[in-house]
Amino acid sequence: MKQITTINEMRAEAEKLRLAGKRIGFVPTMGALHEGHLELIRASVAENDVTVCSIFVNPTQFNNAEDFRLYPRIEQEDAVMLENARCTYLFLPAAAEMYPAPAKVNFNFGELETVMEGAHRPGHFNGVALIVSKLFHVVQPHKAYFGQKDLQQYAIIKQLVTDLDFNLNLVRFPIVREKSGLAMSSRNRRLTPEQLEIAPELYKTLCLAEEKLQNGSLSEAKSAAEAYLKNYPEIKLEYFEIADANTLQPLTELKPGHEVALCLAAFLGEIRLIDNLVLVVK
Ligand code: PAJ
Repeated sequence: MKQITTINEMRAEAEKLRLAGKRIGFVPTMGALHEGHLELIRASVAENDVTVCSIFVNPTQFNNAEDFRLYPRIEQEDAVMLENARCTYLFLPAAAEMYPAPAKVNFNFGELETVMEGAHRPGHFNGVALIVSKLFHVVQPHKAYFGQKDLQQYAIIKQLVTDLDFNLNLVRFPIVREKSGLAMSSRNRRLTPEQLEIAPELYKTLCLAEEKLQNGSLSEAKSAAEAYLKNYPEIKLEYFEIADANTLQPLTELKPGHEVALCLAAFLGEIRLIDNLVLVVK
């Protein structure tokens, strides 16, 4: 695996690959890699001639300075994992390389960002759209892989690719979970053993809500989820929403065949976790 730290070198490499007719798969990450990230890498390795993974803890997408400061950074371990997953390139730029001066461009995704993560993390999707646009320009992928774990992020990037005519295909990869059901996340590394024990209740809540939704109603699903989590005072629910899986707008009624997303965010101590479950209404 080749490690690259500058935009110029990464761009030159991408251009060389494209001239040679190679298909470039791309997995952007913020590092502290886990099996969820590695499954995206493996999918890209299987489907493309080369795979570029970027690791960049993007300051512009953090709305909480402590969260940015304490975000796990373990690039050496990450590089070994990527090597083992047969990744071809690791793009590892420094902050000053990506942002030599503060960026001034602003994105507005309309109603896509007024709900859930967008509503609770002001500026977050602006930072995501900014860094992903920059990375797409530098890496020039044919295919880019994102996880359903960040469902709203996927919807934002899909809009970005459509509106700005990025010439690439997007993959929405299913959520990779621990045996306990807990969605894998770099932030799980910051949970205490007690919090780790209780964190799988988030997924159990989603499964309970799915059952209530399929056999009952939308409001029953929402109230059952909220009531269930009240049994765990260590978990502070920020939101539980039932939304259209593509537009992410809250639903008021259910139609058979409709793709629906159950989405939640919750705090365990200082650590904020998100999870979701996409289902088709029976
Ligand atoms: P990060 O949180 O490191 O995630 C990188 C990619 O891995 C994202 O597409 C995310 O959805 C996916 N992912 C994370 N956990 C997953 C899991 N358990 N199962 C499947 N996929 C999972 O998302 C970001 O970084 C950043 O916002 C980024 C897109 C890199 C822009 O800075």
